[in-house]
Amino acid sequence: MSHELRTPLAAIIGYNELMQDLAAEYDLTPILPYLKKVDMTAHQLLAIISDILDLSKVEAGRMELLPERAHISVIINHVLTNVQPLADKNNNILSVNYPTDIGELYTDVAKLKQILINLLSNAAKFTQNGRITFTITRETKSFNNDNNQTQNDWIIFEIADTGIGIPENALPKLFRPFVQINDSTTRPYGGTGLGLAISQRFAYLLGGNITVQSTLGKGSTFTLIIPAQIPIEESPAKSYEENPAA
Ligand SMILES: Nc1ncnc2c1ncn2[C@@H]1O[C@H](COP(=O)(O)OP(=O)(O)O)[C@@H](O)[C@H]1O
Ligand SMILES: [Mg+2]
Repeated sequence: MSHELRTPLAAIIGYNELMQDLAAEYDLTPILPYLKKVDMTAHQLLAIISDILDLSKVEAGRMELLPERAHISVIINHVLTNVQPLADKNNNILSVNYPTDIGELYTDVAKLKQILINLLSNAAKFTQNGRITFTITRETKSFNNDNNQTQNDWIIFEIADTGIGIPENALPKLFRPFVQINDSTTRPYGGTGLGLAISQRFAYLLGGNITVQSTLGKGSTFTLIIPAQIPIEESPAKSYEENPAA
């Protein structure tokens, strides 16, 4: 399915790039803005298609996890490089707080980054001339089971904005696919309403979840909590035997 949807779109994007080069070469500058529009909308469509494919993959239980060890500060910096231009565009101040010894985690880093970029892009999109505060902390929780003390580290990513906020009655349905809160005919924000649905499902896959608090007209706070060590269900030996060359 993925291949069938992406290949024609890749051809459209590719041929359009070729036309842009030719238009420049033959001084056809009047058509350049139109070709740029084709490029922009084709990339928008590509983003929507990947979102729909991601969501259906998770729903079908076919989304694979690729856990790796990573420095949390490296992940944060990568995410900020992506999101800073969006914050600037709406004249928002983006500040980041985390302890220097925040350390490492072992999780599916690509999915974690996708969640954080989704949440921070929303904060940037729904806030104008405001402030976005990104706070990361590590918390150790002790559990007593059968007289055994076990400790688990959790990483908490909090994204607080001073934007438009979300009405209380809309909060319960926020993580459903295709839900957008403002009136669809007047909303100036674009998007498809898939970002939060995918992010919440990814958070579950990583062993955590996302919660939200918001006050209409004042701002919103989204909190992602995941274990520092992803819970592993499949035994690694099994997948090694299935794929001995790997
Ligand atoms: N930080 C936020 N502030 C205000 N509203 C938000 C925020 N994040 C999400 N929302 C609301 O939740 C809806 C769903 O978000 P999302 O799934 O990311 O879809 P999209 O960004 O494509 O609209 C948004 O359309 C918006 O109405
Ligand atoms: Mg979004």
